[in-house]
Amino acid sequence: DDYELGEYSDFMRKEMAEQPEAVRRALRGRLDTRFATAHLGGLRLDPRDLREVRRVKFLGCGTAYYAGQIGANLVEELARIPADAEPASEFRYRNPVVDSDTLYVAISQSGETLDTLAAVQELKRKGGNVIGAVNVVGSAVARECGSGVFLHAGPEVSVASTKAFTNMTVSFAMLALWLGRIRDLSAAHGARLVSALQALPEQIESVLRTDQEVADIAGKYASARHMFFIGRVRGWPVAREGAQKLKEISYVHAEAYQAAELKHGPLALIDPEMPSVVVVPRDELLAKNIGTIEQIKARGGPVIAVTNAELPAGLADAELRVPANEPELDPILLTVPLQMLAYHVAAALGRDIDKPRNLAKSVTVE
Ligand code: G6P
Repeated sequence: DDYELGEYSDFMRKEMAEQPEAVRRALRGRLDTRFATAHLGGLRLDPRDLREVRRVKFLGCGTAYYAGQIGANLVEELARIPADAEPASEFRYRNPVVDSDTLYVAISQSGETLDTLAAVQELKRKGGNVIGAVNVVGSAVARECGSGVFLHAGPEVSVASTKAFTNMTVSFAMLALWLGRIRDLSAAHGARLVSALQALPEQIESVLRTDQEVADIAGKYASARHMFFIGRVRGWPVAREGAQKLKEISYVHAEAYQAAELKHGPLALIDPEMPSVVVVPRDELLAKNIGTIEQIKARGGPVIAVTNAELPAGLADAELRVPANEPELDPILLTVPLQMLAYHVAAALGRDIDKPRNLAKSVTVE
């Protein structure tokens, strides 16, 4: 039963372990190997409508917002449509300009977050074209949007979202692939992405099998009062989500920063007491990220690299490793060990993992 702990000590652990199966459900029936694309039937938009889309804007709160940032990057990379993400809570209050050729995506695990619902209502009042990316069928956001993509993550109980986040990012990869394939994304590139998506569940399983290594690393750094999470471009939303996970369940202060911005202030904080988790995808920015690690090390800062690249021996003090995939999908896999890191730091500190203080699973108040 989804609401039973079974062999698990807490729901966060159980839900992290369910991610491979959750991703399989999200992919089921949606990948098209013949045309090297994906279809999201719930969108109820035909290719002609989708061709008219000139911008994509993702809206959500907390973890859903960070998933939206990954979605925006994917849409820009694969479909070359300008895209961004914004906290739904900001959007709803700032009298946003709503364009008729923008596709708005309202993201919510619960479908009940008041700020996200209010953003959808504001959009609809202004005639905006909004779809949902929601886990709970029949929820307020799902009903208000009327069309969209269900996440199929299964019930999520832990306040810290894990499998719902992963399924958000997988769903946005499919949306981006679809938008790309009705534009200029080649069949060969599309086919590589379809295979890469199919490979994800097993790759997540292999990351989950590194649990003991992650626990050992977490044990070493659990006494830190503060941590940086550093990333650039594809790694930036990953860093933000990693910092969020650590903050919410371990109460260790974590700050996410863009790698190249470090030198404009935060480098002053680096010392042996300030570990940095650096997200290092095996992409064209690898050399830049290695340079970032060197800058931190030169100032005495400990570095935990989360990576699918071969880093020079001894460069980082610890490595959280994930398998390589198509570079565009790196953020999906690179987030998983950061969930595990936060989990094990919180466990080492004896925190109530499923019910962190001051937080609620779904925030239905202002
Ligand atoms: C709360 C939860 C977060 C979650 C956010 C958005 O703040 O503590 O874990 O990311 O709400 O929730 P939603 O259900 O809209 O995805």
